[in-house]
Amino acid sequence: MNVPLLAVADGERADRDAFRHDVLAGLAETPRAIPAKYLYDARGSALFDAICDQPEYYPTRTEAAILRQHAPEIARLAGPGCALVEYGSGSSVKTRLLLDAMPDLHAYVPIDISRQHLDTTARRLREDYPGLRVDPVTGDYMALDVLPDTIGNAHRIGFFPGSTIGNLKPEEAVLFLRRARRLLGSDGALILGVDLKKDPQRLYDAYNDRAGVTAQFTLNLLRRMNRELEANFDLSAFAHDASYSEAAGRIEIYFRSLCDQAVTVAGCRFHFAEGERVHTEYSYKYDAAGIAELARRGGFSTAAFWTDPVRLFAVAFLK
Ligand code: AVJ
Repeated sequence: MNVPLLAVADGERADRDAFRHDVLAGLAETPRAIPAKYLYDARGSALFDAICDQPEYYPTRTEAAILRQHAPEIARLAGPGCALVEYGSGSSVKTRLLLDAMPDLHAYVPIDISRQHLDTTARRLREDYPGLRVDPVTGDYMALDVLPDTIGNAHRIGFFPGSTIGNLKPEEAVLFLRRARRLLGSDGALILGVDLKKDPQRLYDAYNDRAGVTAQFTLNLLRRMNRELEANFDLSAFAHDASYSEAAGRIEIYFRSLCDQAVTVAGCRFHFAEGERVHTEYSYKYDAAGIAELARRGGFSTAAFWTDPVRLFAVAFLK
């Protein structure tokens, strides 16, 4: 694909400006917080892939097993000739499990904010699925409201795996679902992967793996600020801090200052007290009733609901 160099440079500058703006605003707030989406630069995305391979991080392989087992039924519920619209294009095995089960798909439409990531995904899929129409859409799926014309009037089946919906607060998740409902249409459907509530120790371990990959993932945000925003975070003076709040039903992730210190970010000086934390992520966990309620408030009904035998993770087919 030919992309004018100037357009790429403009896009990168806009991304950098948004990152600087959001970081400076987030560090000026009380309590401090930086949006989770900034965890995913190239290194952060690679670290997330490494998290998925950790023995403690059960969601990825559990969801894949559920999808593998129920792919034929998913394909049947979706019906023939539909367009599969993936929120946050997966480079992963999960997409392929569905593509393998849906040989007569009209199109695969991955949505992602990273054009580079999309291009790579699209190229690989076109190679491996020669008959498949791949129509990538660059954009923030939280804001997207049109799909390519090439989809025509094929039934639109959304795919939002990985419990990424857990990054959103429940009210935001409902807004996301309403938007998806509008985008996918009244004859559309949404395949939604959601992490389930369970033994708090198991949840804690999944976000505090022994190899420390999740810690590297959180601290990569500091590294990214150092590189892109001329910040001077000392990575050894901050720690990854993840815990499960049973009351809130969510994992809460922060980076925590290990001492009293000052840091400069994009020319602005910020003081951190010892023990002070900057929020980076929530990861909400639901039970079956909570997922049904979320779906209902988002304008969907649950047509099918699958879990693994020990109920670690759920996949819902919403209509
Ligand atoms: C990609 C948002 C689903 O919440 O489990 C994993 C992100 N962060 N370990 C999750 C994450 C730290 C992940 N999601």
